[in-house]
Amino acid sequence: MKYPVIRDLLFLLPPEAAHHLSLQALSAAAACQLTSLLAPPPPADPVQLMGLTFPNRVGLAAGLDKDARCIDGLAALGFGHIEVGTVTPRPQPGNASPRLFRLPKHKALINRLGFNNAGVEAMVESIRHARYDGILGVNIGKNASTPADQALEDYKRCLRAVYGVASYVTVNISSPNTPGLRALQEGEQLPRLLAALKEEGSQLAQRHGRQVPLLVKIAPDLSDEALRGLAARLLEFAVEGVIVGNTTLARDSVTGTHADETGGLSGAPLLDRANHALEVVASEVKGKLALIGVGGITQGEDAARKVSLGADLVQLYTGFIYAGPALIEQSVRAIRALAANEPK
Ligand code: FNR
Repeated sequence: MKYPVIRDLLFLLPPEAAHHLSLQALSAAAACQLTSLLAPPPPADPVQLMGLTFPNRVGLAAGLDKDARCIDGLAALGFGHIEVGTVTPRPQPGNASPRLFRLPKHKALINRLGFNNAGVEAMVESIRHARYDGILGVNIGKNASTPADQALEDYKRCLRAVYGVASYVTVNISSPNTPGLRALQEGEQLPRLLAALKEEGSQLAQRHGRQVPLLVKIAPDLSDEALRGLAARLLEFAVEGVIVGNTTLARDSVTGTHADETGGLSGAPLLDRANHALEVVASEVKGKLALIGVGGITQGEDAARKVSLGADLVQLYTGFIYAGPALIEQSVRAIRALAANEPK
């Protein structure tokens, strides 16, 4: 069955029910080695970054497989890397439902899930049970009930717990659905957080005999000045990479049903804003930090555009829901074509 037909059927269900059903079906397909029926594997386009070899530049963004329960199924679709999470130290239910909304005419979603997850220990168990041995990013956050002045302890606890199973760790300080989280991007909170996590990271590296790169995921809603300030801090504390970025609170580009729902907007209407933030950050960090471009990719050309703006890798989420696994291959091909056309 072609993906658009599957999607139309799934869209008859409420968004979260469709999400869980799809992940279960994908896991079952992977167990029976049937995923090749869903998508042709993308061509190889390996890239070295942060001491890791990525088989291609197109990855899965955080939030789709929050508890790392479907890594094998997702990997079989051809993603060059998979980012799981956001995970928090303790399990938490997230916000009240409904909390995920489709805006089909915009190829967009609005979510206010609020880090619903089974907690970091359950996630590590799931990762240990998976067969996947490719590149796995683990995205970490804080529990909603943790006071802002103790947020650092939550991140440290997650870092310690996932260090042995992650290829890289992403510090999420940009989800709009956990009160106070985005404040960690600004002022004195950021250097305190970065210093502590880098310190913790070096101790863990010694213990594990392996250094796991640390990335920071930021919001696309910051002013250019704030983006430059943040980039300077990331360079100062020598994190390995930055992900630009998360969902947006802006609603200027959407109208109609659900457009006014509270939460983070993702998908096509986010593209220009995310690309602008990417360009600003790239002008500060390009060549010094790994740069991952996320937000609004719905066709291969969007992925290639992010690479031409300075991204080393890209990630998909909402476009993948609307276009299906074919978007992975299209994105890999568009990025490869870009490199082939570059002057030598
Ligand atoms: C997300 N995103 C997200 N990001 C993150 O760092 N941690 C998370 O837990 C989540 N959860 C989440 C849930 C849902 C339903 C969506 C749609 C998105 C953000 C995601 O990783 C990505 O940054 C944005 O969605 C922008 O990319 P797209 O969707 O426009 O390709």
